Amino acid sequence: MLLKNTTLACTDLDQPCGLIRGGALVVEGTHIVWVGSEQSLPETFRSHEALDLEGRLVTPGLIDCHTHIVHGGNRAREFEMRLEGASYEEIARVGGGILSTVKATRAAGEEELLEQALVRVDALLTQGVTTLEIKSGYGLDIETELVMLRVARRIQEQRPVQVRTSFLGAHAVPPEFEHRADAYIETVCLPALAAAHAEGLVDAVDGFCEGIAFTPMQIAEVFDGAQSLGLPVKLHAEQLSNLGGAQLAARYKALSADHLEHASDADAAAMARAGTVAVILPGAFYTLRETKHPAIDSFRAHGVAMAVATDCNPGSSPLTSILLAMNMAATLFRMTPEECLAGVTRHAGKALGLDDVGVLRTGARADLAIWDVESPAELSYRIGFNPLWKRMFGGRF
Ligand code: NIG
Ligand code: FE
Repeated sequence: MLLKNTTLACTDLDQPCGLIRGGALVVEGTHIVWVGSEQSLPETFRSHEALDLEGRLVTPGLIDCHTHIVHGGNRAREFEMRLEGASYEEIARVGGGILSTVKATRAAGEEELLEQALVRVDALLTQGVTTLEIKSGYGLDIETELVMLRVARRIQEQRPVQVRTSFLGAHAVPPEFEHRADAYIETVCLPALAAAHAEGLVDAVDGFCEGIAFTPMQIAEVFDGAQSLGLPVKLHAEQLSNLGGAQLAARYKALSADHLEHASDADAAAMARAGTVAVILPGAFYTLRETKHPAIDSFRAHGVAMAVATDCNPGSSPLTSILLAMNMAATLFRMTPEECLAGVTRHAGKALGLDDVGVLRTGARADLAIWDVESPAELSYRIGFNPLWKRMFGGRF
């Protein structure tokens, strides 16, 4: 199929937003076979079935590279408590927070988890998302961690979306292991990882390095386990404090370090050397009324690729809008609309170890979002408005 009379963004051309006005793009089967200016379209493609896009903007299908979209229940009550003045950490320390979702997730069956997740997944798909990362981490026992990952995999059978899974057994210490985090890692987290990997359920291994979660040493143990299975790692790092998670992630050549509100310039330098992507999560910053900004200037100065994601989860970021995540990254952190777009396309792909999505080039997957807008900046600019016209996944509308 030939898509013509369009503006293309995120091509690999070296110009702002990789923009080509008067562009054309050719899809054969599941992949892109040609991208460029319509004037230079080779003769062989001119006879393909054509769709005139009347000047609409085509971007790669968007990539939400950090979500906890599979989870039981909701935390509206904690939302109210925070409005009354309780902090996220205080709620976590008295058994709320992640652990209240663990309870609800364990109680929900696989079918219920799937059904609830699909509602949220559908919200993302209507905004042009074609690749979605999903973490475990609300099971915290071997069986429920497996169930969460199975649900994540089933989502891509039920919807036109590519799912990448991250094992997040090191998300919190479950109540039955209170004050015994090391024992939890030895007897639950690492065996669950091995079992999930054996079932083909794991694409990457994540952790939460924080005072209310795991120390860098404990995370290193999980990362060693990942490495021994040949799996890449990523980390929730420096979200509420600086514990050295970003530099630990860099030492393990992590795909990404995520959150990073408390990351330093030295952290950015280490991430740059390691090629670790900074995943910026403005939904959590906003929800928790955080005041410390991620060091965007340092990431820029050191050339760290920045991704932007929803962090969709029931506690710190009950957000199912990738467009709003882009708007927040721009308005709250002064990321440019171009950076926001790269953050949900190419850089988000990099954060997942994927290079055949998030870019319009020959050989990439034909995962596209077609927008009723004139310029890429419009995608970050409006609030609560969805200009998606059509979405293509693997060459199919
Ligand atoms: O990315 N930071 C840790 N994990 C999640 C929060 C999960 C929750 O509160 O349920 C996050 O913000
Ligand atoms: Fe998260």
